[in-house]
Amino acid sequence: MKREKVLVTGGAGYIGAHTVVELYAAGYEPVIADNLSNSSEEVLDGIQKITGVKPVFEKIDCTDKASLESLFEKFSDIDHAIHFAAYKAVGESVERPLMYYGNNLVSLINLAGIMMAKGNGSIVFSSSCTVYGQPSPEHLPVDEEAPLKPAQSPYGKTKQMCESILEDCVNTPKSDLNVISLRYFNPIGAHPSAHIGELPRGVPQNLLPFVTQTAAGLRKELHVFGNDYNTPDGSCIRDYIYVCDLAKAHVAAIDRLRDKKVRGTSEYFNLGTGRGLSVLEVLDIFMESNNVKVPFRIAPRRAGDVEQVWADPSKANRELGWVADTPVEEVMRSAWKWEKKIRCV
Ligand code: NAD
Ligand code: WQD
Repeated sequence: MKREKVLVTGGAGYIGAHTVVELYAAGYEPVIADNLSNSSEEVLDGIQKITGVKPVFEKIDCTDKASLESLFEKFSDIDHAIHFAAYKAVGESVERPLMYYGNNLVSLINLAGIMMAKGNGSIVFSSSCTVYGQPSPEHLPVDEEAPLKPAQSPYGKTKQMCESILEDCVNTPKSDLNVISLRYFNPIGAHPSAHIGELPRGVPQNLLPFVTQTAAGLRKELHVFGNDYNTPDGSCIRDYIYVCDLAKAHVAAIDRLRDKKVRGTSEYFNLGTGRGLSVLEVLDIFMESNNVKVPFRIAPRRAGDVEQVWADPSKANRELGWVADTPVEEVMRSAWKWEKKIRCV
């Protein structure tokens, strides 16, 4: 049977690489398009070690429409795309908004334009729980019907804008574009083989990479940003989802788009575990699961942090036939195994 191609923009990145592995496992043939602005070609070796296949890779900047068009000419049988390619650092987006609007919006507009011109295409878009901001208490856990809140950063705004752009594309008369926007909660962990994982540049802004780097001795101590929130232990609550579980949801989304009989549709799914964990709980579970100490101290709140948000993933569970079911202890072990591998601890 001929393997169906799936374009994976940003496929050399953290979530993209894990998704490429799952696409191969499901019988698809991923085609990676990445400009390596936040990743490296070594990731392709990691994928090969896991799958036994050197992935098809095109070094392409998605903001360059002509390059993206030539890719579609080269692989004329691509009907489905998963669009990961974007910048994602919230703080940096506040300092360099135009860089974020330029990259994240133009990449999406180019891809959508090509898919619409080609016809019969489907896009899975990487969105974020950031579109919900701080949901009011009656909306926790947050489902897809919860109102979107004004985004706090240019990065968050690009996610809201991209969702709207796609919605408008789907709503054009006679549109045959099908779209699924996946709203990720907090992706963590690494492939159990430790051949691929997250490679943050500089000082990590996200919790788990900071925890693993502190455990590895690269950082003196973790700062827990605030213990005076209105939560059971005073620290913020998030829904941490294993990156391999998240990757599998993309395969489920592609399967769904492939099976669709109706064209011109747009859907949204929350991807989370349905369980909120506080910063202090994450720290405890990480230390327990790995039998390792992580020095920490309570620090002031971080500006812009949402107090608590976790997902109601029941729509994705029901409609995509997908569930994030990897035990959190296993996830923490995968994160530590990856950190030890890259630091040679
Ligand atoms: P990542 O930075 O590891 O991966 C993004 C990849 O896209 C990188 O390999 C980068 O080189 C590439 N890229 C960026 N701009 C490009 C362009 N113009 N052309 C081609 N390639 C380009 O990030 P990630 O954590 O894997 O995130 C993937 C997607 O998921 C992003 O859209 C991000 O906004 C979204 N997301 C991430 C998180 C998270 O916490 N990691 C949460 C919610 C949503
Ligand atoms: C988690 C919790 C921090 C670091 C960000 C983006 C969001 C999405 C996911 C892409 C918070 C606390 C963190 C540290 C800490 N990305 N923390 N000490 O803020 O939920 O979301 O990544 O779409 O858009 O905003 O994730 O990992 O930064 O923080 O105490 O050194 O850990 O305060 O409560 P966040 P995070």
